Amino acid sequence: MTDAPPRTAIVTGGARGIGAAIAARLAADGMAVGVLDLDEAGANNTAALIADRGGRALGVRADVADEDSVVSAVETVASDLGLPVVVVNNAGVTRDNLLFKMTASDWDTVMNVHLRGAFLVSRAAQKYMVDARFGRIVNISSTSALGNRGQANYSAAKAGLQGFTKTLAVELGKFGITANSVAPGFVETEMTRITAERMGISFEEYATRYLEKIPVGRVGQPEDIAHVVSFLVSEGAGYVSGQVIYAAGGPRSLPSRRRSPRSDLVPERSHGFQEVRLVYGPLLRPEFYRGGGRGRVGVSRRRPQGLLGAPDQLGGARRGPAGQLHRGGEHFVVRYAAPSQATERCFRAGQRVPA
Ligand SMILES: NC(=O)c1ccc[n+]([C@@H]2O[C@H](COP(=O)([O-])OP(=O)(O)OC[C@H]3O[C@@H](n4cnc5c(N)ncnc54)[C@H](O)[C@@H]3O)[C@@H](O)[C@H]2O)c1
Repeated sequence: MTDAPPRTAIVTGGARGIGAAIAARLAADGMAVGVLDLDEAGANNTAALIADRGGRALGVRADVADEDSVVSAVETVASDLGLPVVVVNNAGVTRDNLLFKMTASDWDTVMNVHLRGAFLVSRAAQKYMVDARFGRIVNISSTSALGNRGQANYSAAKAGLQGFTKTLAVELGKFGITANSVAPGFVETEMTRITAERMGISFEEYATRYLEKIPVGRVGQPEDIAHVVSFLVSEGAGYVSGQVIYAAGGPRSLPSRRRSPRSDLVPERSHGFQEVRLVYGPLLRPEFYRGGGRGRVGVSRRRPQGLLGAPDQLGGARRGPAGQLHRGGEHFVVRYAAPSQATERCFRAGQRVPA
């Protein structure tokens, strides 16, 4: 037990998921919590749950990417709840796509919510911390900061947050303010559920792919991340600053690539044509591969000889001019009139067709 004064914290993106768990945990630790979120009803709901358990909290609608919205929300917390000296920048979004298909708008959205948002909220709250000669800033990064396919925007933003964290630690340390980053691996939330949905697979299948890579043998829960944050914002953690703590059940957890469709390319012969069946999976999603799929699906880096139909048919599953490429059940079937030599060898040997 410490005789620390009651603190006020701000948790962004606190309407659900990791943010809601952090808000609940900090309230249980004795802090008053301003729950900021675009989703006002969700923020109020988190605050109400905290109040039901005897804590103090306030839901405030805020768009962390918008300067006026942030300034006004932080002032509301300061006036209605208490001067905020703890900030957890947790609000986040994903707009995943391979680089060649990523729109500038998807890039900007992710940068604005994660990076600009963390900057605006930290800047708005730091004056209260400087005055109090005490402050705690925690930025929620991600294992994706180390690189993750389809997340050029998100991984850049999450890596950027780590640099931001270290600079805050350097600049604000003399005021008794620490800044740290928590980088979660796979955590079961709406964000990961929505990602699974977008990939066209069940959440269970998506989680299973990660599980193979997580040494502790389970996926993370929001409370796992809240626990780390609770430590970093505690009174006793004043000598830990500028750090990135990976909370991923191991040193790093990224999904297994074992189930890539490439490994499922099984040559067949049918109706006098040679065919390759491609399991319809996440890596064949039209949004990932339209216009560029033929290399990725492992038929050939070059346009396979005799493959009729436009490349985007691999992703879009449209019929080729003579029906040479179509989607049947959960498979794509690529039919060759005249396969390349390498592909022909695979057909003859009954082997998988290499990428
Ligand atoms: N779930 C994971 O596996 C995982 C892994 C690593 C990092 N993270 C990070 O953890 C944080 C929380 O993730 P989550 O899984 O709980 O996500 P989530 O989608 O369940 O919740 C994100 C919350 O942020 C809010 N939000 C989005 N844009 C906002 C904005 N402009 N202003 C205010 N609020 C906004 C949403 O309304 C939502 O309540 C994010 O920064 C995410 O990138 C999550």
